[in-house]
Amino acid sequence: MILVTGGTGLIGSHLLFHLVKSGKSVKASYRDKDTINKVSKIFGYYSENPSALLGKIEWVQADILDIGAFHALFKDVEYVYHCAALISFDPKDYQRLVKINIEGTANIVNLCLEYHIKKLCYVSTIAAIGPSPKGSEATEENEWSDSNVSVYGLTKHDAELEVWRGSQEGLPVVVVNPGVVLGPGFWNSGSGTFFKYASKEKKSFIPGGTGFVTINDVVNAMVMLMESQIVRERFILVNKNLTYKEIFHKIATGLGVEPPNKKIPFWLLECLWRMDWLRSKLRGKRRRLTKNMAKGLYRQEIYSNQKIKSALNFEFGDLDAMIDYCCAKFKD
Ligand SMILES: NC(=O)c1ccc[n+]([C@@H]2O[C@H](COP(=O)([O-])OP(=O)(O)OC[C@H]3O[C@@H](n4cnc5c(N)ncnc54)[C@H](OP(=O)(O)O)[C@@H]3O)[C@@H](O)[C@H]2O)c1
Repeated sequence: MILVTGGTGLIGSHLLFHLVKSGKSVKASYRDKDTINKVSKIFGYYSENPSALLGKIEWVQADILDIGAFHALFKDVEYVYHCAALISFDPKDYQRLVKINIEGTANIVNLCLEYHIKKLCYVSTIAAIGPSPKGSEATEENEWSDSNVSVYGLTKHDAELEVWRGSQEGLPVVVVNPGVVLGPGFWNSGSGTFFKYASKEKKSFIPGGTGFVTINDVVNAMVMLMESQIVRERFILVNKNLTYKEIFHKIATGLGVEPPNKKIPFWLLECLWRMDWLRSKLRGKRRRLTKNMAKGLYRQEIYSNQKIKSALNFEFGDLDAMIDYCCAKFKD
């Protein structure tokens, strides 16, 4: 029996589809029943009969901060994919990020140890790898520094430390560090917001760039790593390093709209994060651009994908085809 946490999210829902499609017995955690509709929508992209596949999953209501509820989930489980997390770059969310990402992961690791789980796959992020050294690719061995890191990156890094602690205590673990994941269905978060932004034919694009990967590559790599003998290793999952200009151009082309063509200058980003801070202070609004985000946006981060390629003979899929697929689903 396999347990997936965060099964109602982008990565979790696609992973669940892959697992049930291949006939595996799967349990998944959810918090709010309505979110299972999102999973049904995702299954509907790939199957004529999503309810039949959805019905094969044993859904259990549980918050990762509620250990009691998770005890019920862990019974009969052999393998765990831990995808649940809070993704937010707003410093106001720091305490919630600490709770859900660090404490939540520590809870999962402790339960895995208690129930003698055969293997845990933890979904970390390139944000926990840290900025790439000037002019060269960041690898899994990248030196970590707390400075100029988002609150999200900080807590995902510390969550990874909980996983390595579990590994030291005897839990077989494997960690993946995906770049920005391109996949359909979640248009209000992550890469989904890129599609929304491009569709509005906005004029400006942010400078810099980062690593991108398709949802299929993330799911395939996770499953392959889980089924391999590999333990105590982390793997960057990045298909291509692209500038934001390039990614917006690809998305706009796929949507059949004008791509943004004006790079936001650094001085303007510096003004914008200050205005965002003031707006948040005066009106209590959520932060959309922080100082660290502005600094990060100006950098072109580049990541090496050599390790996963060598370890599994892994071949990345077609990123452009996934962008076109997402554009078609977004237009629907
Ligand atoms: N998307 C990306 O581009 C990307 C890139 C790199 C790494 N990652 C990592 O990949 C993982 C999955 O990301 P995603 O894109 O699938 O995120 P997502 O769509 O925001 O999904 C997050 C999932 O976590 C669940 N969750 C949040 N707080 C929880 C709690 N307290 N207890 C139980 N479940 C909780 C959510 O449940 P609800 O539906 O109830 O909210 C949802 O199922 C995360 O660890 C993220 O850090 C994502």
